[in-house]
Amino acid sequence: MLSSPNSAPSHSYSQTPNNAHSAVNIVLDTAYQGIDAADWKTLFNQARSAKLAQFIEDMFAGKHINKSEDRPALHSALRNLSKIPVFIQGQDVMPAVVDVWHRIEALCNQWVGVTDVIHIGIGGSDFGPRLAIEALAHVPGIHSRGMRMHFLANIDTAESARILAKANPHSTRVIIVSKSFTTLETAMNAKAVAKWLLDSGCTPSQITNSLFAVTANISAATTFGISQEHIYPFWDWVGGRYSVWSAVGLPIALQYGFDTFKDFLAGAHAMDLHFKNTPLEQNLPVIMALTLLYQQEQNDVKAYAAIPYADALDWFPKWLQQLDMESNGKSVDRDGKPVKHSSPVVFGSAGSNAQHSYFQLFHQGPEIIPIDFIAVREPMSDRPEAVAHHRILLSNCLAQAQALANGKEASNPNDVYPGKRPSNLLLLPELNAFYLGALLALYENRAATLGALWNINSFDQPGVEYGKVLAKPIEKALASHAQDVQASEHIDVITAARIIFLNTTALKK
Ligand code: F6P
Repeated sequence: MLSSPNSAPSHSYSQTPNNAHSAVNIVLDTAYQGIDAADWKTLFNQARSAKLAQFIEDMFAGKHINKSEDRPALHSALRNLSKIPVFIQGQDVMPAVVDVWHRIEALCNQWVGVTDVIHIGIGGSDFGPRLAIEALAHVPGIHSRGMRMHFLANIDTAESARILAKANPHSTRVIIVSKSFTTLETAMNAKAVAKWLLDSGCTPSQITNSLFAVTANISAATTFGISQEHIYPFWDWVGGRYSVWSAVGLPIALQYGFDTFKDFLAGAHAMDLHFKNTPLEQNLPVIMALTLLYQQEQNDVKAYAAIPYADALDWFPKWLQQLDMESNGKSVDRDGKPVKHSSPVVFGSAGSNAQHSYFQLFHQGPEIIPIDFIAVREPMSDRPEAVAHHRILLSNCLAQAQALANGKEASNPNDVYPGKRPSNLLLLPELNAFYLGALLALYENRAATLGALWNINSFDQPGVEYGKVLAKPIEKALASHAQDVQASEHIDVITAARIIFLNTTALKK
């Protein structure tokens, strides 16, 4: 498809071998990026100057590439189905990883008669499993055990109220997922759900039986009251936003079976092997990263969109937001110096819905916003109407990309499409656990590549801590109902006035 001469648009774009790439049967077409052979040469030279190949080698070798926290970033070991040893300070981590796989598999066979699972976690402890549960819900050949899978992240009790109204306390299992086991939202929600079990007439031993934890902080989970055999560990060398491959992904195995979870890991592992072993010029995560770098340098882009033309992937952009912006949303590089580029804002939602929302701006707004169009070749079913709908979905996806690239002239300025709006087309052969794993790993490795190109540490997130620190004294001031809150080290005059307003109005009651 991608090399057919008839498919090339007539505008300034052309379909050349430089534009068509594939890995793990996922095809990437960069034809609408407007990058010519000379540009590609320059981009790959930039990658070489950034010592990208060395960085990739160091990452998989367990070197401490997360310098600020003095740790490796070895989430790739969690999906290393080859079980080839991966060493951290002389110790192979694979036996511990494999042990958790065995425990997950055993748990899948133990949960009989469970109607509801409440997965409590936020950020990286939420997005990955939530996305996978949604994405795989209607995949032919994946048998769902039909449990109600509830994801509880927000401290807002609107979310827990919705979940607890549906769940049956006597046949519910609760998984508390937190790498640190200190995250306030998760701790409060976990306590509230444990109380709900108690209030619903569960005995203390039934409650102990119902509670599970996934964490890198075993002692905190133990202190919370989770029994040792219900704690599934992961490790400080796994970043929260890279953790769906660990027991954080338990819901995937529990709902769709351990084999499906393994397929998910297998797809990611295959993408890792591609990333690790393929020259830069054919390396899909690298090529995708370079298209973004090119648009930053040429068009000073500050935002890009990821639009999956697959409703099942509607959660993908939310998962991607944390991956990209928490990893690379930074102003200083690995040496503390100001950066030229870092993560643009990323947003998106499923097409074609997105077309009927913000695509107007993509076509005619003053900003250039590159787009990753993500499409699936095969429909979810061979029912004639599913095939017909899928064809319309794909034609919309192709049409948008073409319209954005080529634009349209018109005598009325209101009707002019300026064109030259860049996009990638990423085509999955089908949507299943394997290709979902491969897709997520592609973007993870792309984020790491971008970090290396920008000289940013993609594996820490110091910027999210300060607001959490400030929330504590503010919460105390709200709890006091004080009407004379003074500005202090942690509360400025504006926030003090807002607290007083709240204390004298709604929260006072
Ligand atoms: O606040 C950001 C963050 O630290 C993320 O990096 C992480 O995914 C999320 O909070 C949840 O953290 P934890 O898994 O430790 O509860």
